[in-house]
Amino acid sequence: MQSESAIALPLVFLMTGNRPWLFFDQNSLLCKNIDSNDLPTNEHCIQQSDHLHSGPSSLPKIRRAMTLRSTFAQADSLLYRLRAAGTLLGVTDNTLRGYADHAGIAVRRASDLTPGAPAVRVFSPDTLFQLAQWRRAQHYVKAPAAGSGPIVITVDVIKGGTGKTTTSVEAALHLQLLGLRVLLVDLDVQANATQLMGYEPDLTLDEAEAYGVTSAAIVQDTFASVLMPFLEGRQRNQPVRAMPQGVIKKPFGEHGPHLIPADTFLGDIEPALANAKGQRELYLRQLIAASLAGSTPGLDLSVYDVIVFDCPPSVSFTSTAAIAAADLVIAPIRLDAFSVKGLTKLMSEIDGLDAAYHVRPELIILPTHYAPQLARIGRMQTQLNQYRDLIAPCAISASEEFPKSLDSYLPLTLQKPTCHPSKEYRLFAEHLHGRILTLAAARRRTAS
Ligand SMILES: Nc1ncnc2c1ncn2[C@@H]1O[C@H](COP(=O)(O)OP(=O)(O)O)[C@@H](O)[C@H]1O
Ligand SMILES: [Mg+2]
Repeated sequence: MQSESAIALPLVFLMTGNRPWLFFDQNSLLCKNIDSNDLPTNEHCIQQSDHLHSGPSSLPKIRRAMTLRSTFAQADSLLYRLRAAGTLLGVTDNTLRGYADHAGIAVRRASDLTPGAPAVRVFSPDTLFQLAQWRRAQHYVKAPAAGSGPIVITVDVIKGGTGKTTTSVEAALHLQLLGLRVLLVDLDVQANATQLMGYEPDLTLDEAEAYGVTSAAIVQDTFASVLMPFLEGRQRNQPVRAMPQGVIKKPFGEHGPHLIPADTFLGDIEPALANAKGQRELYLRQLIAASLAGSTPGLDLSVYDVIVFDCPPSVSFTSTAAIAAADLVIAPIRLDAFSVKGLTKLMSEIDGLDAAYHVRPELIILPTHYAPQLARIGRMQTQLNQYRDLIAPCAISASEEFPKSLDSYLPLTLQKPTCHPSKEYRLFAEHLHGRILTLAAARRRTAS
C-alpha cells in the first residue's frame, strides 16, 4: 500500500514549530486557457493564471468560450503533471507511471494537447479519480467491506467562519482520492460548499447561458428535494414519492465526489423539521436507513462509503438532525479566534441526543487557521488541552489561499495540490480514513 510522504507532524509541533507553512510547486500544475476558438492556447501554472476565475466578474472572458460548461469551475481545464498527480494520489512518480501503464485508463500527453509541448503525461481530475477507484479495485488501498453502508460524517460547530465548509469539501475530495466513494451534502443556505464544488447557487435557469454554463451548473434541487418527500411520506404513512432526477451532482465526473447542493430554498427544511411530528431529530438518520433499505425511489445512498454533511453555523433542527445521523462529528476550531462556547454547546447537544435516543457520534476537533507567529495560539492551546483526547493529530495552517479558492469555484487541493495546506488536509483525511475503516468494521461486527 502506498502512503503520502512523511509530512505528518504531531499537533504539539504545529503549535510550537517555526517552519514555513506554505510551499508551492509552480511547475506541478498545468492549466489550459480557452480562447475565442475554444482551443488550448498555452499551458502554464495555475498560480499565474486568472482565467480560471469564472464568476460574474469574468463574464466577458467566459462568453468567448464556445462550449457551455456544466460547472462554473473550469475543471476540465485542469491538468496535473506527474508530481502533482502523485501528490494527489499519495504515490511516488514511479508508482504513478506504473498505474498509468497498467490501469487501462487513457492518460494524455501534453504534446497531444499542445503542438510542441513535451510528451509528458498529464492527468485530469477525472483521470485521477478513475485511478483512485482502480487502486481500490486492485486492493492497493483499504476500503470498507461491501454492504457496510455509508459512514456519516457531520461537520459542525456552532460558530461561523471556523473552516466547516472548507473542511467538508477538502475532506470529501481527499477521501475520494484515497479510494472511497463520497457524497457531500450542503446543508447551509449560504451554499459555500456548493460554490466550492463548482456550482452557482444564486443564478436562475435563464441566466445560466449568459454566464457560459449549461443548466447543470446552477442549482435546481437541494437536500430539501430529498428530505421533503421523505417527511411527507412518513407523516402521511405513505410510500415515499420519487426523488427528482439530477439532485446528485457529479462535478468531477462519475468517479469523483458527488454533491447534493444548496440554495436559499434549502431553508424550507427548517420549518418542515420544526413542525414534523414524532422524533424530528432522527428524520435524517431514518432517511438514510430508508434509502439503504431501498424505500426512497431515485435516491440510493448504499453506493457511498461516506456521506459528509456540511452544516450551517447556527443552532438549527437541520444541524441537530445531521448530528443525530452521524457516526463522526468533526468540529473545526479556529486557533486564531478560539471559542470554547461553540464546542461546549456542540458537546451538550451530543449528550442530549445520547440521553434521548442513545445516539452518540464520535467527536474529532480539528484545529484550523494555525499561524505560529500568533501569541494567542498559546492561550488557545491551553484551553484546548481539556479536550486533548478528541483533537485530531494534525492541524490546518492559516492560508490566504483558502478564501481565494472560493472565487475560482474549485477546492484548493485541486488548484494547488502540492501547497502545504492541501497536504495538511490530505493528512487529516488519512486520519479520517482510518477512523472510517474502524467504524465500518465495528458496524459489521454489530450487524452479524
Ligand atoms: N485554514 C484557513 N486559513 C485561512 N482561511 C481559511 C482557512 N480555512 C478556511 N478559511 C477561510 O475562512 C472563511 C470561512 O471558512 P469556511 O470554511 O467557509 O467556514 P465555515 O463554514 O465554518 O463558516 C472562508 O473564506 C475560507 O476560505
Ligand atoms: Mg460554511
